[in-house]
Amino acid sequence: MPEGKSVNRMFANIANRYDFANHFLSGGVDYYWRKVLADQVQAFAPRRIVDLATGSGDVAFKLRDRLGTDVAVCGMDFCEPMLETARLKKKERAEYADLEFTFGDCMALPLPDASVDAITIAFGVRNFEDRHKGLSEIHRVLRPGGRLFILEFSQPHFWFRPFYYLYLKFILPRLAALATGDKGAYDYLAGSIEAFPSRPQLAQQVRAAGFSAVKAIALTFSIVAIHEATK
Ligand SMILES: C[S@@+](CC[C@H](N)C(=O)[O-])C[C@H]1O[C@@H](n2cnc3c(N)ncnc32)[C@H](O)[C@@H]1O
Repeated sequence: MPEGKSVNRMFANIANRYDFANHFLSGGVDYYWRKVLADQVQAFAPRRIVDLATGSGDVAFKLRDRLGTDVAVCGMDFCEPMLETARLKKKERAEYADLEFTFGDCMALPLPDASVDAITIAFGVRNFEDRHKGLSEIHRVLRPGGRLFILEFSQPHFWFRPFYYLYLKFILPRLAALATGDKGAYDYLAGSIEAFPSRPQLAQQVRAAGFSAVKAIALTFSIVAIHEATK
């Protein structure tokens, strides 16, 4: 698993181009993935949500749009330049005024035990230095009955893999170099996606951290998956 400090440095280097690169390299399908995530969270009807590894805040903004101002949403990340991007976007719309974006490392969350109804984490778990430790921290801060929602890359359908890995390894890093000037970060992305567990394997790791009722849905040829789990 990657070292936390180098992950932090890597995101700090691309923070101001992160959103553009995201939408460009995914062909805009990332909007749809966050929408499905927000649908699932809305169905659970939480009162207090923390969006971990929030980055530039897109999941937090989507949750606020969908769930309204009665639901408290806080975005947390350990990379200050990414949080700064989220805070700048927050200033653009008055209805985001009470959204909080604060420092928090998933390896040691600055939250009391059993204090949160729902945790979302999009494209963050893959970058954890110690996945079991991060998932256990999430388990600690959720209230009993609370829900975890993980949106993350997954292993695509068998027939789609050759095309996908061709794109990831040879095309994406070159396009990313043009979009962000940082090919290295996207070489890392390709490697980390390929090494990431399948849906059943990740579900097993989530259970090993203490969660039950783990369900997963695959999206877009199983390029990504949303795992939902209960404390
Ligand atoms: C690929 S970005 C995802 C951002 C956002 N969730 C999204 O959907 O666009 C990954 C984010 O995870 C953050 N991150 C990685 N490891 C972390 C950790 N241990 N604690 C907090 N944030 C972390 C990085 O700083 C980065 O902002």
